[in-house]
Amino acid sequence: MVGYETLQVAGSLVLLAASQASAVQNQVAGRADQVPLGVGADAGINHHKTSKPLVSTEALQHSIKSDNLLARAKDLYKIAKLGEDEYNHPTRVIGSEGHLGTLSYIYSSLAELGDYYTLSNQSFPAVTGRVSESRLVLGDKVPESASPMSLTPPTKDKQPVHGDLIFVHNSGCNVSDFPTEVAGNIAFIQRGTCPFGTKSENAGKAGAVAAVIYNNEEGPVHGTLSTPTPDHVATFGLSDEDAAPFLKDLKSGKRVDAIAYMDADVTTTITDNIIAQTVNGDPENCVMLGGHSDSVTEGPGINDDGSGSLTVLEIATQLTKFAVNNCVRFAWWSGEEEGLLGSDYYAATLSPEENLKIRLFMDYDMLASPNFAYQIYNATNDVNPVGSQQLRDLYVDWYRSQGLNYTFIPFDGRSDYDGFIRAGIPAGGIATGAEGVKTKEEQEKFGGKAGDWFDPCYHQLCDDVSNLNLTAWEANAKLVAHSVATYAVSFKGFPERSPLASSAVYEQTTKYRGSRLFI
Ligand SMILES: *[C@@H]1O[C@H](CO)[C@@H](O)[C@H](O)[C@H]1NC(C)=O
Ligand SMILES: *[C@@H]1O[C@H](CO)[C@@H](O)[C@H](O)[C@H]1NC(C)=O
Ligand SMILES: *[C@@H]1O[C@H](CO)[C@@H](O)[C@H](O)[C@H]1NC(C)=O
Ligand SMILES: *[C@@H]1O[C@H](CO)[C@@H](O)[C@H](O)[C@H]1NC(C)=O
Ligand SMILES: *[C@@H]1O[C@H](CO)[C@@H](O)[C@H](O)[C@H]1NC(C)=O
Ligand SMILES: [Zn+2]
Repeated sequence: MVGYETLQVAGSLVLLAASQASAVQNQVAGRADQVPLGVGADAGINHHKTSKPLVSTEALQHSIKSDNLLARAKDLYKIAKLGEDEYNHPTRVIGSEGHLGTLSYIYSSLAELGDYYTLSNQSFPAVTGRVSESRLVLGDKVPESASPMSLTPPTKDKQPVHGDLIFVHNSGCNVSDFPTEVAGNIAFIQRGTCPFGTKSENAGKAGAVAAVIYNNEEGPVHGTLSTPTPDHVATFGLSDEDAAPFLKDLKSGKRVDAIAYMDADVTTTITDNIIAQTVNGDPENCVMLGGHSDSVTEGPGINDDGSGSLTVLEIATQLTKFAVNNCVRFAWWSGEEEGLLGSDYYAATLSPEENLKIRLFMDYDMLASPNFAYQIYNATNDVNPVGSQQLRDLYVDWYRSQGLNYTFIPFDGRSDYDGFIRAGIPAGGIATGAEGVKTKEEQEKFGGKAGDWFDPCYHQLCDDVSNLNLTAWEANAKLVAHSVATYAVSFKGFPERSPLASSAVYEQTTKYRGSRLFI
């Protein structure tokens, strides 16, 4: 890469490539009549009306106003209300009018920016599930923790099925773990070793009419079967605690009868990721960032992920005042709440050449939680594509520079960075917290209320405009601006992409597909 020098232009500090810096100096001296493509001359001295100053982190951060963000949140809430006809409450869930409205809001906002970006819709089939009603009875108990897996098929004819609960050996990852008595009965399988989808599929192959997967750790299992297969059977997750007495009975040879009922549908919806890429900037070296355009069914999703996706949109808007050295690619993912569908599809279908053009991906999901913490994904280079840690440290340095506290959180596959990591692309991001409980120590660091969730309205109807902390939102939006401006100017010091990075290495490091466990 070219060397860099710092230039003092009209009182603001601007970083320019050395060759371009001399172009600016030539212009200052009135000698240059031609400005190379994408060069930010100016800051008041240049008379070319069409040329723009090179983006700087200070200038892009300065363009962030909480009023603008709030106005967008209010617009988004109105859009969520389009979902009321069908759902009886505001929602932007995939397939709803609220989500379609969100897509056209994002697309038309970008289209208004003229030819600064190349826009595209990436259509893909999103498999979504809906459980209308479910019930699990074991012996004479209705275990409270029983939770239908996402993307579960219904029980036969959407009617209750009766049978014995049958203990499955090992973890049910192999059809040979299932005793022959499973046929016509309900399989009782321990969590672990392989994905829930594999266990459910094996249960189906063994002839089970339903399956229950109990936890091998403490707590309930809110899981997903991931990609549907014809052999999947209606599947519930169950806590270790609720499973324990039945395991004891089964191991001592007692019979346990069971009833499973699942009224569920799995449907495929064609939906779109929206992608905007700067026309200027080196197209071989892109910084990419994104938020998700969809919400859950239960509510309008103004914090999740209105806050992130609107931040990305606001920055896409503000960036048009500037020139960039590197390509900047923005994404609004669809189907995140159904299991990171859009981002997974995008990252998995990149050609090897296109994959290598993405130097890093920055995930922005939930930036304004009302009981917030400034969270940074602990994305390290030892278990993630090299560069992830450099991004993590950019966030650390910024919070420090602002005198703000931060905390590291697990980089465990709960948002749209997951597909990128698995495709060998460095990634990371920041967040402000979902259903996690704030600790006393975190209360001292960030204020708010210990013992409450970071977002008490997470995935609920009350995730509306009042569910945003504007202080946190504005601070984080400035950090997003900083991240974009930094890499739009230069990748100096940031690791090169390597074609050797094998996605297999990263395959099994995470347990989540979005908000749900899959293994
Ligand atoms: C892309 O999707 C948006 C939002 O659904 C729509 O308004 C727009 O017309 C689409 N553009 C193209 C080129 O298909
Ligand atoms: C499943 O079990 C059979 C019999 O024990 C064994 O031969 C086979 O290798 C196992 N398959 C897997 C994937 O573990
Ligand atoms: C961050 O991850 C590394 C391993 O990748 C681990 O050693 C370290 O303890 C983690 N830090 C925190 C605060 O979780
Ligand atoms: C950072 O956390 C410390 C406690 O660990 C607290 O005393 C301090 O006020 C916090 N700083 C800010 C800016 O909140
Ligand atoms: C947002 O957070 C800041 C800092 O903790 C706090 O002072 C403010 O009252 C919060 N605002 C709202 C609306 O909760
Ligand atoms: Zn989200």
